[in-house]
Amino acid sequence: MKDTINLHDKEFEVFISKEEIDDINNELGNLINKDYEGKSPIILSILNGSFIFAADLVRTFNFPLTIEFVRYSSYEGTESTGKITKILGLKSDIEDKDLLIIEDIIDTGATLHRALKDLWSKKPRSIKVVSLLLKPDSLKHIVPVDYIGKSIPNDFVVGYGLDYDELGRDLPAIYKLKS
Ligand code: IMP
Ligand code: MG
Repeated sequence: MKDTINLHDKEFEVFISKEEIDDINNELGNLINKDYEGKSPIILSILNGSFIFAADLVRTFNFPLTIEFVRYSSYEGTESTGKITKILGLKSDIEDKDLLIIEDIIDTGATLHRALKDLWSKKPRSIKVVSLLLKPDSLKHIVPVDYIGKSIPNDFVVGYGLDYDELGRDLPAIYKLKS
């Protein structure tokens, strides 16, 4: 694993190692397995950022589940635009179903806020949210997050699904912008 990497015009340094990510995933898996015992939720991965986290996290689960993907877009470069666009919606009927949303990172909370509004209107039985990362100092919306992998400062991060203008999603660890 490289200590620093370059993406477009910027330099990033290692922030959360692959080993730490694995530990976080196992801890989240233990908590979620307890809460979903006897249930069969629909897992909702919010694209694009959460695809790698979702792939790893669902493999720590030991209850029956189905997976769906939805896609929203808000980011340009290293800033949230605040304007949320739904690009891909749900295929299945979620009425009376238990939903578990998987997010990569909650920054302003705008994406999750919008997704929850869309989803609650379809009358699911329950919605819970798991996010690998949370930037508490950046929140602008009150959003319920049931499981948080790690709270981080307001640094811009890439890797493990997260991108800087579409680059860096494939990195196995999480890197932050070098100051
Ligand atoms: P929010 O709507 O401001 O909460 O931002 C949510 C989305 O913005 C996340 O799902 C990410 O795709 C993206 N995002 C937020 N912070 C970062 C970051 O530090 N690096 C890369 N993408 C980010
Ligand atoms: Mg993104």
